[in-house]
Amino acid sequence: MSGYLVDDTRKVTTHRLIEMKRQGKKIAMLTSYDYTTAKIVDEAGMDIILVGDSASNVMAGNATTLPITVDQMIYHAASVVRGVTRALVVCDMPFGSYQVNPTEGVTNAIRIMQQTACDALKLEGGVEIIPTVKKILDAGIPVMGHLGLTPQSINKFGTYAVRAREEAEAEKLISDAHALQNVGCFALVLEKIPASLARRVASELTIPVIGIGAGGGVDGQVLVVADMLGMTKGFSPKFLRRYADLSTIMTDAIGQYITDVKSSDFPNADEEY
Ligand code: KIV
Repeated sequence: MSGYLVDDTRKVTTHRLIEMKRQGKKIAMLTSYDYTTAKIVDEAGMDIILVGDSASNVMAGNATTLPITVDQMIYHAASVVRGVTRALVVCDMPFGSYQVNPTEGVTNAIRIMQQTACDALKLEGGVEIIPTVKKILDAGIPVMGHLGLTPQSINKFGTYAVRAREEAEAEKLISDAHALQNVGCFALVLEKIPASLARRVASELTIPVIGIGAGGGVDGQVLVVADMLGMTKGFSPKFLRRYADLSTIMTDAIGQYITDVKSSDFPNADEEY
């Protein structure tokens, strides 16, 4: 394998992630939705690549994650898988694909696995989805849970504010986390909850807990690739660290191309056949 920025180029597995938690090694996770980006993210040494249903916002310009379909997630996930050799690829099950009943959930889960060749699926929710998670696990498909701010329920929440600040919601989240671990999930995402609560959940569970807006006391972190690279604008939650300003870099480069085309500078003699 060439081009990798890490020495250990072995395929990341769910077992290795649990081992990483046991050894106190932090887990890095980032979203990707297309082949080219996924290849770069993988070669940089990412542990987990999430084909998030945030593709609905980032790739399609929707206001929420709700409109994205199973077919569209399959397109994104299959593209990502073709670019990845090392990272564990997790695909989100989109809204409506697993909430109706466990049978429909496992049917969609099998379809996503067959048509994408991804490694695992992620589902949002706690005890209410346990029968579906169990059926998917029984089909041999690894499942990652997702609690806290679960964007597929945004219309019920009515706000993207921090979740589980109140004791009752925090207690439910803790029991949901244990239920997901007990049924057999290999990892759990906690989104936008108080750091102290996330730290407690991570210390109580043996499976890795990956946070987004959940502080540093968890076993790993996940961000949306377009956000951390500075491609998106007007979205600046406190938890988001921007590692680049790709929007400015791209705008400058595209502006230069327009200038070069219009001035007949491009293509020059070396750039023609
Ligand atoms: O869809 C997504 O990108 C996610 C992450 C924010 C965890 O679920």
